[in-house]
Amino acid sequence: MTHLIRQMGHVAIATPDPAGSAADLADIVGLKVTDRRDDRIFLSSNQRHHEVTLIRSEAPGVLAVGLEAIDAAAVDEVTRRAVSENLEILDEKPLGPYTERAVRIVLPFGSIVEVHTPVRRSEGQRHIGPGARARRIEHVNLKAPDVLVLKDVFTKLFGMQLSDRTAGDEFNWFRCHDGYHHTLAVFRGEPGLHHYAFDFHALEDLAGMADTLVLKDRALLWGPGRHGAGGNVFQYYVDPNNCVVEMSVGMDRIENDELYEARTWAISEGLADRWINQWGSPPPATFTDPGLPFVRTVTA
Ligand SMILES: [Fe+2]
Repeated sequence: MTHLIRQMGHVAIATPDPAGSAADLADIVGLKVTDRRDDRIFLSSNQRHHEVTLIRSEAPGVLAVGLEAIDAAAVDEVTRRAVSENLEILDEKPLGPYTERAVRIVLPFGSIVEVHTPVRRSEGQRHIGPGARARRIEHVNLKAPDVLVLKDVFTKLFGMQLSDRTAGDEFNWFRCHDGYHHTLAVFRGEPGLHHYAFDFHALEDLAGMADTLVLKDRALLWGPGRHGAGGNVFQYYVDPNNCVVEMSVGMDRIENDELYEARTWAISEGLADRWINQWGSPPPATFTDPGLPFVRTVTA
């Protein structure tokens, strides 16, 4: 299978309070506001013009999860495959600026993915703000009632590879061309986006972010711990739109795409298994509850 997706792209979130949500991401994650226009605020942690777009809307929701394609021909190929599978094409115009080509597709259960050519690298090489030092938006984790239906889309339409799974396919993780263990993950649940994740320079960034949450009279949802699938140190908090944000350090790289075989992790009641946390503490019972539904448009 030839990869059509090179790396994680962006997330576009509709929110009643773009300014408040942007301040939250700047304070806690350390993102930089790169641009404001109309009712949109753009944020990034690196040279890309945007990794997160916050768009004013009455109701919170996810307008799209963006994946960067290998090139324009890969966008064309994804479009061709989506049409042949009778998936709905929402738009062939990019959702945001500084992106040449894109296709926005409605997946089974309503998730919306934009496959796009690279967002322009218009910013400084690295943003070092006063707080945490995010390196890049790393992955997203969707929820869907049937994980295997989305597995078909990710592998057959997007050319992604299964990196790990749980024995009953309650959870699947998928990688793309850049070799990080996962760029997309999905677990069984009500449809929506459970979390979006950022990669950080070092563990001290995670401590700084947890301290920032204390200053805001908030707390982590779970962590720190170390995932089995992906091997990254993690912690999570809930953003103002009831979507979870993951802070990640050190995700595994799969150096040989051809030889790697997906692992299958055992899962049991209570989730106190090594696949989800090598260090042992299980997630809170409410961990899977938050999430943002996908929406097709903003509402006035
Ligand atoms: Fe994650």
